[in-house]
Amino acid sequence: RLEEFASRTGFALGFFDELASTNNEARDARYTNGAVVIAERQSRGRGQRGNSWSSAEGMNLTFSAVLCPAGLRAESQFYLSKAVALSVSDTVDSFGIESRIKWPNDIYVGDGKVAGILIENDLMGACVSRSIAGIGLNVNQTAFDPALPNPTSLALQKGAEFDRSEVFERFYGFLTVRCRQLDGGDYGKLDEDYIARLYRFGERHPFVDGLTGERFRGTIRDVLYGGELRVEKETGEICDYLFKEIEYVHD
Ligand code: BTN
Repeated sequence: RLEEFASRTGFALGFFDELASTNNEARDARYTNGAVVIAERQSRGRGQRGNSWSSAEGMNLTFSAVLCPAGLRAESQFYLSKAVALSVSDTVDSFGIESRIKWPNDIYVGDGKVAGILIENDLMGACVSRSIAGIGLNVNQTAFDPALPNPTSLALQKGAEFDRSEVFERFYGFLTVRCRQLDGGDYGKLDEDYIARLYRFGERHPFVDGLTGERFRGTIRDVLYGGELRVEKETGEICDYLFKEIEYVHD
């Protein structure tokens, strides 16, 4: 079904039973803008912060999309993260499940993580020449490794199985729309939608400082142009954090 969708819509699809990581395979020169590499199983699926990504074979979607954004400047690369996170969030929402984006780009339903995104950008001069957007979306898996803090899946949320091809097709449609916004420089729309879906935005929440280990309560006030998270501490102090400099603490 996915092969049929690929030939109908004209994008290159690399479909594999097993790969180390779809993000690695997608770097191959034969995959150009809009291509997607999907694997049923990854032996070394990679997550953010050097974590691994585990996914039950044949149950979920683990894939990487190759994106070559038109003239995206390096300092604007967080917009790629926004576009990809919004496409995953759009997909989940389209099934009647309300999702949130946990900064910078985890996809949550309630307090459970339904998808993770690993974006790896290549720069050429001042611009992003190519981006590999790796996505792990939990679709039909209902039992998870107890060591994982808070996993969830579409099936757990809906109490029914999903057709993974349909989930992917919807995602690809949303990705096309979001990439058009990105290429057209419609940053206002991406900003607005990203903030509107930001997990815990404007709520008092516990955090831990990733550098000092200090725990504190604060309220997310904004996400800046470069992707930094702006938090107002209880003391009234406003602090901007880069990725890895702050972590959410789950109550
Ligand atoms: C995270 O939340 O830490 C990011 C997880 C990203 C997982 C996906 S699965 C497909 C692609 N290939 C990988 O090795 N990682 C990403």
